[in-house]
Amino acid sequence: MNTLAGKHLVLGLSGGIACYKAAELCRALVKAGASVQVVMTEAAEHFMTAVTLQALSGRPVYTSQWDAREANNMAHINLSREADAIVIAPASADFLAKLLHGRADDLLSLMCLARPMDAVPLLVAPAMNREMWANPATQRNVAQLKADGVQVLDVGQGDQACGETGDGRMLEAEEILEDLQSFFTPKCLTGKHVLVTAGPTYEAIDPVRGITNLSSGKMGFAIARAAQQAGAQVTLVAGPVSLATPRGVARIDVRSAREMFSAVQAQVAQAQIFIATAAVADWRPDTQADQKIKKDGSGQTPQLSFVENPDILASVAQSAAARTGALFCVGFAAESHDLQAHATAKRLRKQVPLLVGNIGPSTFGQDDNALLLVDANGARELPRASKQALAVELIAEIARRL
Ligand code: CTP
Repeated sequence: MNTLAGKHLVLGLSGGIACYKAAELCRALVKAGASVQVVMTEAAEHFMTAVTLQALSGRPVYTSQWDAREANNMAHINLSREADAIVIAPASADFLAKLLHGRADDLLSLMCLARPMDAVPLLVAPAMNREMWANPATQRNVAQLKADGVQVLDVGQGDQACGETGDGRMLEAEEILEDLQSFFTPKCLTGKHVLVTAGPTYEAIDPVRGITNLSSGKMGFAIARAAQQAGAQVTLVAGPVSLATPRGVARIDVRSAREMFSAVQAQVAQAQIFIATAAVADWRPDTQADQKIKKDGSGQTPQLSFVENPDILASVAQSAAARTGALFCVGFAAESHDLQAHATAKRLRKQVPLLVGNIGPSTFGQDDNALLLVDANGARELPRASKQALAVELIAEIARRL
């Protein structure tokens, strides 16, 4: 389910200090299963040697349109015809200007101009000083390149190699990789708003202690990413986890079940799909001490009593939108045994059209999982795979049911 597996990409480097990130990107693309042909401009070779990129891509790098290795001496035609996409990273201000004007005085610009536009998309990751990026000339060029059908990726923001701070850094390799994966993902959820809960909740006992569970949030974050890459607008309500926010996803951090419930209530009206992956604590201490509870030396343990938390999924599933079919609700069940029986009963109890069962102890914190999809027609297993691959399959399943 990795959309880059088997793709052949031409990775073009123009001149800029961000070439060092292109080396990392090349490695990440190869790891994702793509084959990568690197093409460098002369300026790029001042920042990074072709040897490095040959080693990382496993293919000799092309730097000149006069490369005699090509029998017909037409590297610009041959390389662009076999590619699934051309990715220019970094794309310097000068290279964007060249692209805009259709100039073709080196192999990389020549190849971009010669590419069959309908079959070989061109993506560029700009990288430059903030003043160069903000300059009206660059902004005009970017707008026109977009109008010409070039996919212009965002720029990053922050410290720049020149010592200045602002917009214009090239995205990190991981971010470009996510954007490329997204680019190749079929857009089965375009126009939909998806609301996802993820991670554990934390129910405080006093200011330094609380009860929580072992959910890492990985499955929910993978689902949010897969939905975003499938074209949806995604809001992710996350319990306390240490995971990076998937690109393009709006994240709301919460701690307790009640905070998660409030955030969901505030967001759910805009959603057409609600996916509850969070491992919400069923109970919370009925009182929360303002100060740390101290041992008093008597050997007595504190007496804790609990109250039940709101059931977020059940409550959303009973809303008018869910009952009329305007909101499609998906529940998860983390069980320790008898998965199918528990998941089937839970689907009916929570009144959701689709419930996804998994075995808690063998998924919490792991990068892979196995899922059991339970609906009105029965159960179907999605065998053990990476959480990201399962998330892509699950999103496709949900899209089919809308
Ligand atoms: N859920 C929820 N709010 C709760 C408890 C659970 O939204 N207070 C959601 C979970 O996000 C999940 C589904 O309900 O989608 C099932 O969660 P799970 O913890 O497996 O089930 P419980 O309702 O706790 O039932 P049980 O204790 O019987 O396992």
